[in-house]
Amino acid sequence: MLRVNILLISTVFIFTGCGDSTSVHNQGKDCVSCHSSFDSGVTIFNSLNASDRNATDTANGYKVRLVLDDGNTISYVKGRGDGNLYWKGDEGTINDFTVEILDENGKIVNKSRENSHNVGRLRCNSCHTQDGLNNAPGRVVSYDYNQLLSNIIAK
Ligand code: HEC
Ligand code: HEC
Repeated sequence: MLRVNILLISTVFIFTGCGDSTSVHNQGKDCVSCHSSFDSGVTIFNSLNASDRNATDTANGYKVRLVLDDGNTISYVKGRGDGNLYWKGDEGTINDFTVEILDENGKIVNKSRENSHNVGRLRCNSCHTQDGLNNAPGRVVSYDYNQLLSNIIAK
């Protein structure tokens, strides 16, 4: 019994003692619904059907880039909570765009279809829910979901 207690205490210590190392903050929820100062927010997951506020299935260290149809790009900054990112900026320049997910070395690991997203699609997690809404396949993920990248290499 004593041993179990010690284990429990040390586990709690690991999770609370290391600051932001396992950080839960509304993962998978629509960021802009609470953060009206953000123009966009998203959570990157390792699993397509991860549940809301599931911090263990988040993909950390990834980047989000919107490639606009005029060739300009928009980069997101790390948010509070594992896997969370957001962007504040000038929405007026956005028309259609392609989303790219990059790993920490800047390699593209996943992307949406070409110009399939637009300025009305900035509340990422509102469609990229656990089961997906409005034809979204589920979460925004850190792997080549549509196999668009492997097709490019194969051609
Ligand atoms: C249910 C409401 C809610 C949702 C949804 C939410 N947040 Fe927050 N967030 C808060 C609150 C409240 C705070 C302030 C907490 C504090 O100051 O300790 C906060 C703080 C933050 C902060 C630090 C303060 C700031 O404004 O820079 C960041 C960054 C952040 N959230 C990012 C996100 C991202 C990214 C998402 C979406 C994945 C998100 N939040 C979803 C309520 C929410
Ligand atoms: C109105 C609903 C909707 C919104 C909002 C939305 N998406 Fe999507 N997303 C889709 C649909 C539908 C697909 C599948 C077709 C495609 O690839 O465009 C998709 C596919 C993706 C993919 C590839 C598949 C996957 O799940 O990883 C990524 C990456 C992506 N979206 C990122 C984003 C990001 C980042 C945002 C916010 C800037 C966003 N989406 C907002 C509907 C949406």
